[in-house]
Amino acid sequence: MDLLVLNQSGAGEPRVAATPETIKRLIKEGFTPHVERGAGIGANITDDAFREAGANLIAPGSKRAEVILSVVAPSASQIQQQQTGATWIALMAPHRNTATVKLLRDQNMSAFAMELVPRISRAQNMDALSSQASIAGYRAVLLAAQQLDKYFPLLMTAAGTVQPARVVIMGAGVAGLQAIATAKRLGAVVEVSDIRPEVEEQVKSLGGRFIELPMQESGSGQGGYAKQMTPEFLAKQREIVARHVASADVVITTALVPGRPAPKLVSRDMVESMRPGAVIVDLAVEQGGNCELSKADETVIHNGVRILGEGNLPAQLPADASMLYARNLLNLLLHLYPKEKGDTELNARFARPWDLEDEIISGCLLTHGGSIRHAPTAEVINSIVRLPNEVTEPTKEQQP
Ligand code: NAI
Repeated sequence: MDLLVLNQSGAGEPRVAATPETIKRLIKEGFTPHVERGAGIGANITDDAFREAGANLIAPGSKRAEVILSVVAPSASQIQQQQTGATWIALMAPHRNTATVKLLRDQNMSAFAMELVPRISRAQNMDALSSQASIAGYRAVLLAAQQLDKYFPLLMTAAGTVQPARVVIMGAGVAGLQAIATAKRLGAVVEVSDIRPEVEEQVKSLGGRFIELPMQESGSGQGGYAKQMTPEFLAKQREIVARHVASADVVITTALVPGRPAPKLVSRDMVESMRPGAVIVDLAVEQGGNCELSKADETVIHNGVRILGEGNLPAQLPADASMLYARNLLNLLLHLYPKEKGDTELNARFARPWDLEDEIISGCLLTHGGSIRHAPTAEVINSIVRLPNEVTEPTKEQQP
């Protein structure tokens, strides 16, 4: 089966959807991989490294394949260039890329959205949300440490003692836990707020202090995610957390509730209570932000407090982000095309239809057979109200 790895470096995405390691394995499993020249450049993987691993190097836009892998959603022209019915796998961001989803549907493509892989144990090795969120949490702490005007660790020096940085982390999911671990390794004192009670143990095991909230009911919702809390609860939470924020050197916010705008946890007043020189990193900025003053892809300086709203932090660690993402893709491919007992030749796995009832496949299959299979995306697309961040329809130049 022909498999194509897209070059998205021109679109500002340094990560790549395959590595020489996964290429070798894909070949062993019966795929014929083609890699667009320069695809690995942003992640420091040379064309030669892909070639030595056994991939065919081809000019961007010159190859049609049955399976196409990319990091982010493909462009309209990339989709139109492929034959109808092809299979696409990427971090599709379907809520943002509704025009792309419609095009994939209309071209009868089978598109898998990596962010929709269910968070179940047997899909852990395909969980790109986790592999990338963990990098974002790590990177957020490094950005904060770089921007902060003081040390992270406690230091005893000849000139006296330097107090450790005080870091407050909001949201202890995958990104938040990695942020706690990283800030602790750098020697900071770390305090953490989350609304899911089960998180407290994990926070403590990493050396963080858990900020107690007056939980009348658990904040845990379906699938291990948080649920939306009432405005009254969020106001109470802000009141409690405000005391910790006021004395923090760094605040890192990662709080999300699926399908909802990010909860506002750091108000303007809270920012104004912080000392000049303090740093806030808002990882939820692309979902509307946890901090009232953060702006996507901008650094806002308010009363001397730097508020970093950088999006796509995993792309700032492109080598490891690509390595982990490429393995997530490989594992999904092996799940889509499993080798079964009694298969006498490699290609037998490609002849079998997918099990559309399978929880992993049905969970992340976004478009298939000319329809949108992910109900929340279909709802958004079928509704008359356009989301403010919906991308526009393909331009005239992009039309076939
Ligand atoms: P997420 O990105 O949706 O949310 C991040 C964090 O924000 C969560 O811990 C959530 O409780 C917290 N949050 C929401 N509202 C908040 C508020 N008002 N104040 C403070 N914190 C708030 O979550 P993520 O990182 O995607 O993972 C959530 C959970 O999913 C994990 O902790 C785990 O239980 C589960 N999971 C399971 C996996 C598996 O079994 N394969 C893999 C990864 C995650």
